[in-house]
Amino acid sequence: MTATVIDGKAFAAKVRDKVGAHVARLKADHGITPGLAVVLVGEDPASQVYVRSKGKMTVEVGMKSVEHRLDKDMSENELLEMIRHLNNDPTIHGILVQLPLPDHLDSDLVINSIDPAKDVDGFHISNVGLLGTGQKSMVPCTPLGCLMMLREHHGSLSGMNAVVVGRSNIVGKPMAQLLLNESCTVTIAHSRTKDLPDVVRQADIVVAAVGRPEMVPGDWIKPGATVIDVGINRIDKPEGGTRLVGDVDYASCSDVAGAITPVPGGVGPMTIACLLANTVTACCRANDLDEPEGLTV
Ligand code: GUN
Repeated sequence: MTATVIDGKAFAAKVRDKVGAHVARLKADHGITPGLAVVLVGEDPASQVYVRSKGKMTVEVGMKSVEHRLDKDMSENELLEMIRHLNNDPTIHGILVQLPLPDHLDSDLVINSIDPAKDVDGFHISNVGLLGTGQKSMVPCTPLGCLMMLREHHGSLSGMNAVVVGRSNIVGKPMAQLLLNESCTVTIAHSRTKDLPDVVRQADIVVAAVGRPEMVPGDWIKPGATVIDVGINRIDKPEGGTRLVGDVDYASCSDVAGAITPVPGGVGPMTIACLLANTVTACCRANDLDEPEGLTV
């Protein structure tokens, strides 16, 4: 079998178009421009790339983009003060603090100081609790993007066996929760899982989010299963230079799977598109306006 490639790049462009159209309506009908503030502490090169690309796409869909690049040695109090300021700024509807933060800053404290209504990452404990109890919340961007692709490909996911490999707060846990809310039977597997290959072989849907290059080989995949690869790992090529690979071995998995997301061009573009979608959703909620259809769950 050769898997259908789920084109996240094309799907993300459609999501951004939808967001852009809604932003234009908000401006024309209500004089409101959604605003997203991104806070980056320190100079982590990968984080700098993400933040730049978030800012560029925010502007492209017509929203206001504010970037705060802060010194790696800034104090926790200064950072909390900045977040307080953004919480109180009515032109800002979404706040994202890029992770990881330097070690001297308490990430949980910082994230939980963001107004939950502006928490477009969906990491605040209130949003985690709302998602966990099936209530309306801000949904973490990467799992939201994965779910949008799964719904687009399958329609209903009800009754499917889903295995999420990885238990991070950013991807694994919220992904499992979203799949459970879709009435999947969900297993969260991780580094201590016994007989991991056999566990993964039960899955109709595999979501790999472990951060280990090409860890999942094709012989772990049930024929016809859908494979969502969240990993973005840069590895050395034998002939020199580097290339990006996911957490699944694409060559062998795409021979067995029914559908698969590529790396790059799968989950990655959907994450930023969902950040923009969450910002427009947060803006509509803040102004008591109808939310755009199909941009959240
Ligand atoms: N670092 C890696 N992924 C993310 C994300 O989704 N949100 C934030 N804030 N930081 C990240």
